[in-house]
Amino acid sequence: MCGIVGAIAQRNVTGILLEGLKRLEYRGYDSAGIAVLDRASGAIACTRRSGKVAELENALAAEPLDGTIGIAHTRWATHGKPEERNAHPHVASSRIAVVHNGIIENFEQLKADLQAKGHQFASDTDTEVIAHLVYDQLQQGVAFPAAVKATIAQLHGAYALAIMDREQPGLLMAARMGSPLVLGVGIGEHFIASDPLALLQVTDQFIYLDEGDLAEVTLDGVVVRDRAGETASHPVQRFEHGQDAADKGEYRHYMLKEIYEQPAVVEAVLEGRLGSDKVYEEAFGAEARAVFDRVKAVQIIACGTSYHAGLIAKYWIEELVGIPCQVEVASEYRYRKTVALPDSLFVTISQSGETADTLAALREAKESGFLACLTICNVPGSSLVRESDLALMTNAGPEIGVASTKAFTSQLVALLLTTLVLGRRHGLDPAVESELVGCLRGLPALFTQVLALDEPIKALSEQFADKNHSLFLGRGAMYPVAMEGALKLKEISYIHAEAYPAGELKHGPLALVDKEMPVIVVAPNNSLLEKLKANMQEVSARGGELFVFADKDAGMVAEEGLQLLPVPESHTLLDPLVYTLPLQLLSYHVAVLKGTDVDQPRNLAKSVTVE
Ligand code: G6P
Repeated sequence: MCGIVGAIAQRNVTGILLEGLKRLEYRGYDSAGIAVLDRASGAIACTRRSGKVAELENALAAEPLDGTIGIAHTRWATHGKPEERNAHPHVASSRIAVVHNGIIENFEQLKADLQAKGHQFASDTDTEVIAHLVYDQLQQGVAFPAAVKATIAQLHGAYALAIMDREQPGLLMAARMGSPLVLGVGIGEHFIASDPLALLQVTDQFIYLDEGDLAEVTLDGVVVRDRAGETASHPVQRFEHGQDAADKGEYRHYMLKEIYEQPAVVEAVLEGRLGSDKVYEEAFGAEARAVFDRVKAVQIIACGTSYHAGLIAKYWIEELVGIPCQVEVASEYRYRKTVALPDSLFVTISQSGETADTLAALREAKESGFLACLTICNVPGSSLVRESDLALMTNAGPEIGVASTKAFTSQLVALLLTTLVLGRRHGLDPAVESELVGCLRGLPALFTQVLALDEPIKALSEQFADKNHSLFLGRGAMYPVAMEGALKLKEISYIHAEAYPAGELKHGPLALVDKEMPVIVVAPNNSLLEKLKANMQEVSARGGELFVFADKDAGMVAEEGLQLLPVPESHTLLDPLVYTLPLQLLSYHVAVLKGTDVDQPRNLAKSVTVE
């Protein structure tokens, strides 16, 4: 999704802006641009390119920009094709330059009004109206900050904005409503970004803007005003993740690096949250105890991979806690009439904490009679965290690969902690909690063992590279694991992949089975194994090729049409975590063989902050 960087300093800021854009590349984009106030002439100098940031970098190498104040953007098209003329920054009358994340819903009306007044537009974007609205105010004699304030008062929709005025070379304006924005604090220099990651090369000190905030950013400081116009005193917060988080290190792709980080990520989620034989409920926040005491049902809402984590949690919650748990994708939930069960906990799951549909569902839920809202989230200070009553951070560190891996497993661990805390209140045997706490402590080592399967999985992947379709099967909590495996494969290798609960095979998908469609099965040694084996027979009998990930003790043997990959044994409840890693590795290796853009798959974005 779109990314914003802005800077005001005593040095040329072009390099800072460009580096910021590179660090935002992982979010997904189709064009990029930079505008600075040229140091020599004082004019706005703007360079934009469609395609990768590298295109912009080449253009700047050929014709460098030099300015001490500037704004920059990576765009993911919403209004207007991904062409250079639609790339940000957008400039009105050579005076006002704007970069924008989000969507302005009433831009057509605003544009028509401005055109009637004689404003000329150069793009198809909604953003360009903002530049013209500000310029229109200036023409009426309004000062720059007040012009921005008057402009945003006219905007309906979502925005994060950075705005520059040619006649105000010492001032950048920033505004936030419905799309994240932070201010970076340096010594004698200040920055703006849609994600702190973009600025880690220059600062680790950030001010997180609230909805409705408007900020004046100068060399010496920042002044933030809330939507009522009152001066806001947000704390300066130190960014917690390591500086090298946006670095691939020895790995060929971020995705592979992130797959390999999972043992350490599990340790990070568990850190400070486990006693010798129990989960500390204080980890969920000061009010957690009072809330958890009352919970009698759970409603989980999420999107994409996070939704799959929710589906797995449903099995855990209904089995260990014994209360009803419903799971739904946010984009559906937010638009239908819903009924909250009495004393129901509303849970959102999100890597980014900014997914527009999930955030909208949370806002709906807050008006719908839920007991409280908990978010399981990876980004401190994100909108979901700030707007929920309780938050459990997943501590996975920044995830750069668009296909989610370590964020997913960290969510699962956090959800298991949540299950145990709730279970305690509903008669869960303390011995079971204690046993699972022990298993969780052993999970990093188990993950390391599973990652040792990398080479055999790589060898297996060669049989997928020429396939167009695939089927993933699982039963019970392994069905959502199969769904996540299928999502990973389709996201990054572009092979059509479907997941089915294996018992449903006979009700349709069996008709598709032939030698050209690999059938991947996740088969831990659990109570459903015999049923699953019968389902696998249905595939074999029709000449289908089975690729089975199974416990060593599952009693399965490789044979013609059945390839077996043994997975280390674990506690049944931890199987969804353990079996996820081989499927991540399989997708990764298939994508590498197919030569796709593993970290930035086509048409997808890391963080979807528009509807
Ligand atoms: C996008 C990403 C997915 C992610 C989904 C939900 O589609 O590409 O990887 O699962 O958004 O994102 P969230 O940040 O809410 O977990």
